[in-house]
Amino acid sequence: MALNNNFYCIAPMMGKTDSFFCYLLGLINKKISVYTEMMHAETIIRSKILESYNFIEDKKKIVVQIAGSKPKRLALAAKKVTEFGFNEININCGCPSNRVVSGKFGISLLLEPKLVRKCVEEIHSKVSNKVSIKTRIGVDEHNSEDILNSFLYELNKAGVNKFIIHARSAITKKLSTKDNLNIPPLNYQRVYKLKKEFNKNEIIINGGFKNINKNNIIKNVDGIMIGREAYKNPWMFNTSMTYNALESKKRIVKTYIRLLENMIIDQYFSKSSLFHIQNIFNGYSGSKKWRHHVSYALADKKLINLLKFLDYDNIKIV
Ligand SMILES: Cc1cc2nc3c(=O)[nH]c(=O)nc-3n(C[C@H](O)[C@H](O)[C@H](O)COP(=O)(O)O)c2cc1C
Repeated sequence: MALNNNFYCIAPMMGKTDSFFCYLLGLINKKISVYTEMMHAETIIRSKILESYNFIEDKKKIVVQIAGSKPKRLALAAKKVTEFGFNEININCGCPSNRVVSGKFGISLLLEPKLVRKCVEEIHSKVSNKVSIKTRIGVDEHNSEDILNSFLYELNKAGVNKFIIHARSAITKKLSTKDNLNIPPLNYQRVYKLKKEFNKNEIIINGGFKNINKNNIIKNVDGIMIGREAYKNPWMFNTSMTYNALESKKRIVKTYIRLLENMIIDQYFSKSSLFHIQNIFNGYSGSKKWRHHVSYALADKKLINLLKFLDYDNIKIV
């Protein structure tokens, strides 16, 4: 099946969609958009976090997700993001974690459309980049259709025309962040209805998608964002021919490892970079040994052993 690069994108995931994952994804398919893990505006402004993306030359398909609710600080962060070469900024209005909610950002912003509008207007006064919003269909007892409709209506006034909707409500007081990803039921119909009501907006649906075979919903929304399954198997976005997929995968993993080797020399190595490839050969013979080798490399940083493992053809089709 041909992959529609514009229809799918990869969700922001804390501790997962870091610069290394974005780079790996770019090797697999440079046309798929990937959203960075949430970065707080203050972190962007005060730290060197964006520098960790400097090794990626083309950042056009990387969307930076910013968290926060202070208009001027968000605008300053957005300016910095732009100066680093990213095209699109996404505002997190969906995270239900206690820490985030008590900081009055994330999902609590769904109930503050005027404030979010002010944030976007302030950002637009500093940069011309596209600004998109990621949110959920409701929060706690505020899950009437009116809540989300009013939110979009207000943000349209600030020129926002792209919304990513996690098709679940958030339950902030009773559920953990993890449970909020699984327990509130998915309601795709609500997102389809939103698209009908805001048909000029780009509406991307998110939540529970396992693969790229959901073409039957193509007519209901403008795109699908995939999170957990995309992390587990980023290879689903590969467009190389099936008959040489394994060779192509090995080639890409080698390129990735060579980059990491240079990073070790420059002391920019991060352990998460190896987690991203730990499961990449699952389903092939030799995958268990591969996972062990990655664990050793995590401990001793000798990536050469991973390259040798691949060179000796230890991974094979079952
Ligand atoms: C480990 C993890 C970290 C996440 N971090 C973020 C985040 O930083 N920002 C955000 O908007 N959503 C975050 N999410 C939520 C995902 O973006 C997505 O909305 C959710 O996983 C549902 O999509 P899925 O069913 O395809 O995984 C995270 C999810 C996971 C599993």
